[in-house]
Amino acid sequence: MKTEDYCQGEAFQAEKRTVFSTESLPLCAEGQLSRPGDFVSATVGGWGVVAVRDKEGVVRVLRNACRHQNMQVVGTPSGNCETFRCRFHGWTYDLRGRFVSAPPPVAPKDPQSPNLHLASLSSTLGSGLVFFSLAGAAAAIDAGPLPAYGGTLTTEIACNWKVCVEHLLVEHTASADFSFSWPLLALRRAGPVTIMQQVVPHTFLRTRLLTHAFGRPVEESKPAAATIRHVCETLQADRAAGKPAMAGALVDDFHRRLAAAYAKDAAAT
Ligand code: FES
Repeated sequence: MKTEDYCQGEAFQAEKRTVFSTESLPLCAEGQLSRPGDFVSATVGGWGVVAVRDKEGVVRVLRNACRHQNMQVVGTPSGNCETFRCRFHGWTYDLRGRFVSAPPPVAPKDPQSPNLHLASLSSTLGSGLVFFSLAGAAAAIDAGPLPAYGGTLTTEIACNWKVCVEHLLVEHTASADFSFSWPLLALRRAGPVTIMQQVVPHTFLRTRLLTHAFGRPVEESKPAAATIRHVCETLQADRAAGKPAMAGALVDDFHRRLAAAYAKDAAAT
């Protein structure tokens, strides 16, 4: 990886085209959507998406892009609602993403048109998480039986997403107690506890880390998450100064997959 891969938007755009547009990606824990109307929104690799449990109890993933002028409909990271009302001019959608209404001055000519609904993405549930894909059918990981969900902790980190992944991987080798699911999810087991660390690439210099705890209250993960944030922000400064990531089998494999994605993108553009 080069310094600019961690510090500039061009690499992020290449990753958006070749990684985040094609892979199945985790979005949130299913436990974050326990009631109808519960939603979680995020920008994952540059794509605005929202997961929601509809009135029938089905979890869906929608593009968070209004059909009026393509603005972000949902502006809060999580919550509960009856409908989604776009912040900009008031177009309203139901929990399945279907267009409901709009104020008269901005109303569409044909309110029955299916083109007015929020785009629905392929999604699936597995191992306590919600996965989605922008291309093809979404696939979940198989983490085997899990203890009870203990909550999710959100940590905002001022670093490139790859710095965070490298840090999660560098001290580990693949084993029964640790695995990495390309490109964004690390799973760690410690006795009766399973911790999933989900990296959310928000922008090329802003990353959200979701810590999903199974088998213990997530509050117990707060000190570790704060340490990860501090270390990753320090490592980001190191990368900006040209200091490379520490080597390791999992980090090296992560870099190989990224290099392949960059090569594919270069060949296509
Ligand atoms: S962009 Fe959403 S209502 Fe106008």
